[in-house]
Amino acid sequence: MTLAPARAPSAFRRFHRMRRTAALRGLVRETRLDPRSLVLPIFVDARASEPTPITSLPGHLRWPAERAAEIAERAAAAGVGGLLLFGLPDEKGDGRAAADPLGPVPSALRAIRARAAGLALIADVCLCEYTTHGHCGILTPDGGIDNDATLPLLADAALACADAGADVIAPSDMMDGRVAAIRDALDRAGRAETAVMSYAAKFASAFYGPFREAADCAPQFGDRSGYQMDPPNAREALAEIAADVDEGADVVMVKPAGPYLDVIAAARARFDVPIAAYQVSGEYAALHAAAERGWIDLRRAALESLTAIARAGAGTIVTYFALDAAAWLA
Ligand code: PBG
Repeated sequence: MTLAPARAPSAFRRFHRMRRTAALRGLVRETRLDPRSLVLPIFVDARASEPTPITSLPGHLRWPAERAAEIAERAAAAGVGGLLLFGLPDEKGDGRAAADPLGPVPSALRAIRARAAGLALIADVCLCEYTTHGHCGILTPDGGIDNDATLPLLADAALACADAGADVIAPSDMMDGRVAAIRDALDRAGRAETAVMSYAAKFASAFYGPFREAADCAPQFGDRSGYQMDPPNAREALAEIAADVDEGADVVMVKPAGPYLDVIAAARARFDVPIAAYQVSGEYAALHAAAERGWIDLRRAALESLTAIARAGAGTIVTYFALDAAAWLA
């Protein structure tokens, strides 16, 4: 009689066992996407009289403010968690129009507030859509960025959005000290309840290309590498995040997302605050372009990329796939 061996003769682990069926895989899945953690960016265009397709962002439109509630209702019905609003003004100027209470973002906020409850409304705050030169701050006489002189304009823009019903202000300009300036202005105006989600670690990225076409905000000279982060710097990203947390940010964001998963993971490990990540226009457009050529499956690639961002540690994901993903996950 032979005794059964105490363990299988070969001592390797059989990982395949729990991958055998969809049900088994579902039991041991470590990361799940939830549509409520997704934020849909939308573009509100003061010059549009009807929703207008954005060629660089397939499936996305520029909305007139008075019709923005339509896309908001669609997002709410799909179960998406929030909207991030960007504005294109009537005409470009010195940037002060970002604080116009009748500008595209405040107008859309009021229209959405009146109709679509249950969505978090997040207002992007930056000057680049409102300046003739396309930079995110106002300029010094010699063409540099005047960081400190930009801060009050950002604070004014934040207040206009808070007054119009934004739950969250999301400054994307990367000026030093803007979270403190905005927090201070909100508090002084009795808007202590309005949250700040800062684009804390925003890199000077090639992946913003399609957005700049969508928002008509490409810099007319130079680039943004004097104020956005240098892509190789992860330690500096953590310092940027620490500074924004100190200045009062409620949520800190890493942007772009896919190429910076290490930064998301490091931020998640180091800070006990909500971490958001922005899957930017170029990440979205690249997947669409490859899928159009039949090189990848759009749905699988999109969900895989979003899952990777969640797995790295982002609890909130801004993505142009928000509506599609919510439908795919339903
Ligand atoms: C502007 C802003 C940009 C994005 C969000 N806010 C462009 C930039 O910094 O040049 C990019 C978003 C995207 O690519 O989807 N401050």
